[in-house]
Amino acid sequence: MTNRPTFYHAFFLLLFSGMIYSCGHQDDTEIILETTEVSQVSREVQGLLAKNTCLGCHRIDKKLIGPSYLEIAQRKYTKEELITLIKEPQPKNWPDYPPMAPMQWVNGEELATIADWIASLEVNE
Ligand code: HEC
Repeated sequence: MTNRPTFYHAFFLLLFSGMIYSCGHQDDTEIILETTEVSQVSREVQGLLAKNTCLGCHRIDKKLIGPSYLEIAQRKYTKEELITLIKEPQPKNWPDYPPMAPMQWVNGEELATIADWIASLEVNE
């Protein structure tokens, strides 16, 4: 069988491309780590933002579908105000953005941790 080596080569090539592909995979938690404001976010909060899909629309320091968390923090909401706004967004507060869907299904404790974190962000005005 003279063509055997070719067959083996093809097999290893496939195996290798599979490995390279899985190494290149990125999850939301890694995406947020690329931002420059990493120092202001704990692993715990990153995990909660990813799990509750917030990262689909918000980053810490740049505008995505929704305003950045730093921009939201500039409004100086209290933790309680933030919890209410996340459950019942007021699109009139952000006329330049599409309305955010109410996030009423988020676990109360997790929401409190997220709200506490947004309220604690230090913003340079
Ligand atoms: C589908 C996209 C989307 C998702 C998912 C999303 N947001 Fe938003 N968010 C927006 C947009 C757009 C706005 C601005 C318009 C608005 O407030 O309705 C916003 C506004 C906000 C505000 C500001 C409210 C105000 O009135 O000032 C907070 C706080 C907020 N989001 C937190 C969160 C948190 C926490 C999560 C995850 C639990 C989340 N968002 C998930 C799109 C999203």
